[in-house]
Amino acid sequence: MWIADNWKEYQVLDASGGEKLERWGDYILVRPDPQVIWNTPHDHSGWKKKNGHYHRSAKGGGEWEFFNLPDEWSISYLLKGALPESETAASHAETDGLDTGRSLTFRLKPFSFKHTGLFPEQAVNWEWFSDIICKAKRPKDRPVRVLNLFAYTGGATLAAAAAGAGVVHVDASRGMVGWAKENAAASGLGNAPIRWLVDDCVKFAEREIRRGNQYDGIIMDPPSYGRGPKGEIWKMEENIWAFIELVTQLLSKDALFFLINSYTTGLQPAVLSYMMNQAIVKRFGGHVAADEIGLPVEESGLVLPCGASGRWQR
Ligand SMILES: C[S@@+](CC[C@H](N)C(=O)[O-])C[C@H]1O[C@@H](n2cnc3c(N)ncnc32)[C@H](O)[C@@H]1O
Repeated sequence: MWIADNWKEYQVLDASGGEKLERWGDYILVRPDPQVIWNTPHDHSGWKKKNGHYHRSAKGGGEWEFFNLPDEWSISYLLKGALPESETAASHAETDGLDTGRSLTFRLKPFSFKHTGLFPEQAVNWEWFSDIICKAKRPKDRPVRVLNLFAYTGGATLAAAAAGAGVVHVDASRGMVGWAKENAAASGLGNAPIRWLVDDCVKFAEREIRRGNQYDGIIMDPPSYGRGPKGEIWKMEENIWAFIELVTQLLSKDALFFLINSYTTGLQPAVLSYMMNQAIVKRFGGHVAADEIGLPVEESGLVLPCGASGRWQR
């Protein structure tokens, strides 16, 4: 399993009875998690100190209950595989010490469907591709070109930009794209080479193929079910194979990586691996790895599974 264990300002404190207890900076939240089918005693003191609790309702959805939680707050993540603020890809190549890193800042607010605006487990993927981007040592005038699809509040976009890439960020929701821009500004990446697009990912990919545009890195984190700006339906199981085949046509001849993340229960890592081997390795060589991703749990010392990722790299 790939474990996101580099967070300082986020922690899963405990998990039991269908819920996880999390520290988000100075605040503690309790949120439902379908993976948590065990029922261990609530010994962690955090269960009694919660600032917010999302109660799932039997009819689906649910509602938040708040105990002195601000409407919004922020946490930061130190991305190891990134260029320090003062450096360019070329100058960093000389230092070759990837231990300085760069701080990414995320605005948080509890909103519908238990979301907070960030998926902390994705940090393990951010480290993987930002390391590849940095090690490509591309000159500033020919940066690695990255396409981030279903890009939400921009965690992956910021990580790629912080590593020196030019990024195209695509999401169907104008609100999410606005939120991602704010995260970029808060991370000192307000002037980074990022194109922010509100669009349906399938339509966008089809247009990019017609335009002949290509990318060295592609990232996608499709929801199980989603809608485009004009109501275009996305269903993971039904659409993902054709979409991988479509988007593979956008990979440049110097392509470096391709990342697919999935929260769709039942979509095993081996399925992601099979599809990526068929669609990408057959054309570009390279190799695929796929595995679950997870977050360490303080109370038990175990790891909470949080979906699966497939990674292709040259
Ligand atoms: C689960 S979130 C992605 C999480 C994100 N990759 C992250 O780790 O931060 C799914 C996103 O897909 C977007 N979305 C859903 N259907 C879409 C579509 N057809 N085209 C573009 N974006 C879509 C939603 O607006 C939402 O922001």
